[in-house]
Amino acid sequence: MPSSTRLSVRWTAWLCLFISFLGLFSPAFAVKENDFKKCNQSGFCKRNRAYADTAVATGSSWQSPYNVVADSAHFKDGQFQATILKTINDQGETVRLPVTVSFLKNGAARVTVDEEKRQKKDIELRHNSKARKERYNEAEKWVIVGGTALDTEAKLTYEGKSQWTIKYGPSSNLEAVIEFSPFSLDFKRDGASQIKFNDRGLLNMEHWRPKVDKPAPEKKEGEEAKEGETPEEPKGEDESTWWDETFGGNTDSKPRGPESVALDISFVGYDHVYGIPSHTGPLSLKETRGGDGNYADPYRLYNLDVFEYILDSPMTLYGAIPFMQAHRKDSTVGVFWLNSAETWIDITKAKGHTNPLALGIGAKTNTQTHWISESGLLDVFVFLGPTPQDITKTYGELTGTTAMPQEFAIGYHQCRWNYISDDDVKDVDRKMDKFKIPYDVIWLDIEYTDGKKYFTWDPNMFKDPISMGKHLDERGRKLVTIIDPHIKNEEGYHVVSELKSKDLAVKNKDGEIFDGWCWPGSSHWLDAFNPTAISWWASLFKYDAFKGTMENTWIWNDMNEPSVFNGPETTMPKDNLHHGGWEHRDLHNLNGLTFHNATASAVVSRKKGEVRRPFVLTRSFFAGSQRLGAMWTGDNEASWGHLGGSLPMLLSQGISGFPFSGADVGGFFGDPDKDLQTRWYQAGAFYPFFRGHAHIDARRREPYLAGEPYTAIITAALRLRYSLLPAWYTAFYQAHRDGTPIIRPMFYTHPTEEGGFDVDDQLFVGGTGILVKPIVEQGKEETDIFIPDDEVYYDYFTYEVLPTHKGKRVTVSAPLDKIPVLMRGGHIFPRRDKPRRSSALMRWDDYTLVVALDRDGKSAEGELYADDGDSFEFEGGQYIHRKFVLAGGHTLTSVDAEGLEKGSVKEGDWMKEMRKVNVDRVIVVGAPKEWKDKKEVTVEGEDGTWTAEMDYNPAAKGRAAFAVVRKVGARIGGDFRIVF
Ligand code: GLC
Repeated sequence: MPSSTRLSVRWTAWLCLFISFLGLFSPAFAVKENDFKKCNQSGFCKRNRAYADTAVATGSSWQSPYNVVADSAHFKDGQFQATILKTINDQGETVRLPVTVSFLKNGAARVTVDEEKRQKKDIELRHNSKARKERYNEAEKWVIVGGTALDTEAKLTYEGKSQWTIKYGPSSNLEAVIEFSPFSLDFKRDGASQIKFNDRGLLNMEHWRPKVDKPAPEKKEGEEAKEGETPEEPKGEDESTWWDETFGGNTDSKPRGPESVALDISFVGYDHVYGIPSHTGPLSLKETRGGDGNYADPYRLYNLDVFEYILDSPMTLYGAIPFMQAHRKDSTVGVFWLNSAETWIDITKAKGHTNPLALGIGAKTNTQTHWISESGLLDVFVFLGPTPQDITKTYGELTGTTAMPQEFAIGYHQCRWNYISDDDVKDVDRKMDKFKIPYDVIWLDIEYTDGKKYFTWDPNMFKDPISMGKHLDERGRKLVTIIDPHIKNEEGYHVVSELKSKDLAVKNKDGEIFDGWCWPGSSHWLDAFNPTAISWWASLFKYDAFKGTMENTWIWNDMNEPSVFNGPETTMPKDNLHHGGWEHRDLHNLNGLTFHNATASAVVSRKKGEVRRPFVLTRSFFAGSQRLGAMWTGDNEASWGHLGGSLPMLLSQGISGFPFSGADVGGFFGDPDKDLQTRWYQAGAFYPFFRGHAHIDARRREPYLAGEPYTAIITAALRLRYSLLPAWYTAFYQAHRDGTPIIRPMFYTHPTEEGGFDVDDQLFVGGTGILVKPIVEQGKEETDIFIPDDEVYYDYFTYEVLPTHKGKRVTVSAPLDKIPVLMRGGHIFPRRDKPRRSSALMRWDDYTLVVALDRDGKSAEGELYADDGDSFEFEGGQYIHRKFVLAGGHTLTSVDAEGLEKGSVKEGDWMKEMRKVNVDRVIVVGAPKEWKDKKEVTVEGEDGTWTAEMDYNPAAKGRAAFAVVRKVGARIGGDFRIVF
């Protein structure tokens, strides 16, 4: 948040002074959409859009100038390689572009195109630049962690003069048809086209060329343009943005000239596309070439500190995941565009027969996309599904899945900018206890430091951080402190002196240390691409280096896009230089990930012998960041619009492989009224990352300040979150295991129910069958929930059976104290029902199992995963993973979900302690009538058979019958059977 109308007076005055001094900005602060580029202000985006327009205007005679040299093509061990020639002028001059298509064991395919001349460093850079000459080829080093084994069984099944076909995939039902002239690719599943590359001929790799200084056209005397006459436009390509580009007073020197890479990717017969976070706007992405209800600009991916961001916009935000899924009834496919430079994506939908060339058989709509990046390789992965789960799983194999979190991290976090002193922190903590409001973590924003020097404490306000840490620890609570990547340039500050003397900072275009402006004033930036910088950074987090921190201190990384207040679009100049000589332009979107990575690896190595999962929150991210921690959606606003807008944003994060996500509860800027604050807590209780946060100028709003009835309602929402922590943790484990989202949109859980494809204001929690639709409108006391199937749905709180119909909406009442939460029949989920003040205090509590019987009243299934929530011992088998099945309407069994033999894992301390933890209650909703006279059930545990009491409550007034078994006493970690 670099600047806003609502910055504190002190800040505003200070920044204005500095900025007007620099004369770079106008000193008036407001939401400035114009501070950020539109496509036509970004040279390479404009050029590629113009290229597309020319192709469309030319129509069927448009010829893509990219052709494969037939003789160069060969296929071996799952890999196709060849040279593409790009014809660059009427004389037939060409540029050589090596292409590789790799077919992977997991069914994905990867297409990579490079440029030979740059690859061989056979180019000249302008302005004596010391930058690297190649196209950036290290994105994969940061992003890809596996899944790239080649499918050596893939077969070349057709080898024509200008077309080859390769069959691949685990069931050999996938095919890639490679056309040579012009080069294009058609990916098919079971014989039908799904995804086409260069089908519209928009492939464009701007090749290297020397700058030719053209003499100004000579004017003959008397040839001045006459009034009213427009001078003739120069013919040929628009070179105006090839060699340098100025925006907002900053000039990019572009030593390598134009280098963009673009491609059209068509999804044949698909009318919905999802993904490419982070943007505001609907989950099902909009068209971007204008027209009613569409955007006029492409979706942009260029990580920026966009203060007070606007809703429903393709504007870029803080993080980027260039992964898109296309969906239609019964089929999902996807692409992952592995490029970390600034990227724009145009989306258009061709309905009916408007573009016969692009139509697949029987297709209603083709979604056509146009991907445009400023530099780097063309490197795209293709996923052919057919289910949404297949896509997220394979993507997870490539980029990694969500790290298992510290268990406290899925509890509630209490943050604001700022808690002003250690006494303030203790006071908030005591008040939360006094009001019996559960929470796990309290956060410190930038003001805790001594003059914005990270790794220091304000000596007056935070006199004794260790006593503060211990105070929190006594209640099982944690502290998070912020550490940003800008290092204050101040004499005598040990961190900056080491950064300089060890030469670990980002450089400017001339190779000198880059100096920019951020919270502390003049600053330098850690170059987290540099392995030496990463090790040095780790040394700063040791408990004896970062004094005042202890085992319950964790970290928040902000401003890592990076945010540079006086830089172009509030970030670093593109011609800055990083480790290895790469220009910032090439890797900008990876910057946040590398800083997050440096911090996460520092946190795991704070003390020798201490092996614990890190918790680090990041604002900026890229594909792969899910392996490192959590993200939040940055500086939102205390408005109903932003509350509603958070849901599609978080759903999009989930399906794009980075599900550990949240939005500032209450809204960052401004003061929410009490209804809004209450509703936001009710929604936040269903965010994977749940943190209340507020701007420095916002009024205090800890839940106990709201007053009644609000405090009680907010506390109830928090307790609901805490009681469901076992279910949330199980969902995290599923995300960790195979990339499934933690909160799931309707198209993902019900891929054949078309009515749900654009529903993005409700969600399922993991695999629990819990369906939630938070209220996001002022004064609303009821809502319509979309029902995606013909299962039975019960109200979570009252067990009322709702009058639902597949594909229709059902109205539920939702006064302020009620969150619309349903239970889908057929599921079992775990809870811990004893209200406690923090998750740590719930560690050894017994469980409740809630069984929501299916519409036949006979069966239900569910899971529980639990481990010590802190160490990596789960990787060696120290966990409990149970599968619960109620079958035949009478027997509930619990077995090991992974089929492990009893005793196959030697029990460590945590597992031994868990032997004392039991199932306390089982609640069966929709209990069969036959149970009505039962007073007890038989429990068969590992150590014998006993009975437990049961109450049966018959159906009444629309409410389902339900049974409650008390004091079940079966060990949660062992096998058991309950016979009703
Ligand atoms: C940025 C963050 C915000 C934080 C502030 C001060 O604006 O997005 O969460 O409070 O900086 O550090």
